[in-house]
Amino acid sequence: MRTVTVAAISDRRRRSQTAATARAIELLRKGEIVALPTETVYGLAADALNPIAVAKIFEAKDRPRFDPLIVHLPNRDSLEKIAQLPVNDRQLILKLADEFWSGPFTMVLPKREVVPEIVTAGLETVAVRMSRHPVFAEIVRELDQPLAAPSANRFGRVSPTTAQHVLDELDGRIPLIIDAGPTEHGIESTIIAIHDGKIDILRRGPITAEQLSEFGKIDFVTLKGKVCSPGQLPSHYAPKTPLRLIDNAELFSPQKNQRVGLIAWGPSEWEKKFAAVRRLSENQDLREAAANLFRCLRELDAVDLDNLHLTHFLRELHEVLGVLLG
Ligand code: TXA
Ligand code: MG
Repeated sequence: MRTVTVAAISDRRRRSQTAATARAIELLRKGEIVALPTETVYGLAADALNPIAVAKIFEAKDRPRFDPLIVHLPNRDSLEKIAQLPVNDRQLILKLADEFWSGPFTMVLPKREVVPEIVTAGLETVAVRMSRHPVFAEIVRELDQPLAAPSANRFGRVSPTTAQHVLDELDGRIPLIIDAGPTEHGIESTIIAIHDGKIDILRRGPITAEQLSEFGKIDFVTLKGKVCSPGQLPSHYAPKTPLRLIDNAELFSPQKNQRVGLIAWGPSEWEKKFAAVRRLSENQDLREAAANLFRCLRELDAVDLDNLHLTHFLRELHEVLGVLLG
């Protein structure tokens, strides 16, 4: 794939901004991914409600599927379409949104059903923010759909603060980069979660603990005494039903009286041996399988099963499976 960079801002000709955003919007509507400037770092955006589009983000970044994404809202009104505001903390959440949105500030809140499992990596919560960057804001408003966007680097690398950094990381992997010059903050947004009036800082960023302390008691969520990014916390979704990997559903026979579920790559004649079955992809498509994995796990976890088996040949999904199996 050829990666094209288009400049968003030209002091002399405002027309070029319009052309760049129109191109981004067209691709995003089609379920493609586009690198966009935010006020913190460049993000790699996709329609947050389209699981296949979101799967492309994970692919382009080589990002482990268990690391959830931030959803960027088009406006304040869309907050409650994406997230639920618990009664106890509702006023506090709205106050924080008034104070720090739009801006480099992300809240982790209980998710609504419309948010696909691949966005939240199967978690019950979703991270939401509203970007203050004029180009990002214009695109997401015009689209009128939330955008899932992690930083536009390959997994484990430094977040990009210029369009050139994005190109260095993702050249050939994405169709379009919108260049609006260096980002303002150069570090990622502050991430918090809220529990009964207490504010947990999950990731430090431009909005400081001091600023937040006016709104409630502050805690830093730490791992071995260090503040760490939420993707490294042991809070990943894991099914309640015991999960096993098997090489081959053909060779496997559930014990008598055992209700065993199967997550299979595609259709197979061995399905009838199992109490419940989900197929990751009818067309044997890896992207579709990635988009469906957490949904299938959740659905089978809700059925009353003794055991859950996952056939094992999806090399690309091994990272996820490794984590779920602990
Ligand atoms: O400034 C930013 O936040 C940038 C711009 C592009 O918006 N985005 C960004 O995304 O930094 P990313 O994916 O690089 O970092 C998001 C972090 C990850 O560590 C992820 O684990 C965490 O947010 N996260 C997302 N959803 C979460 C959730 N439901 N619970 C806990 N952590 C979550
Ligand atoms: Mg990142």
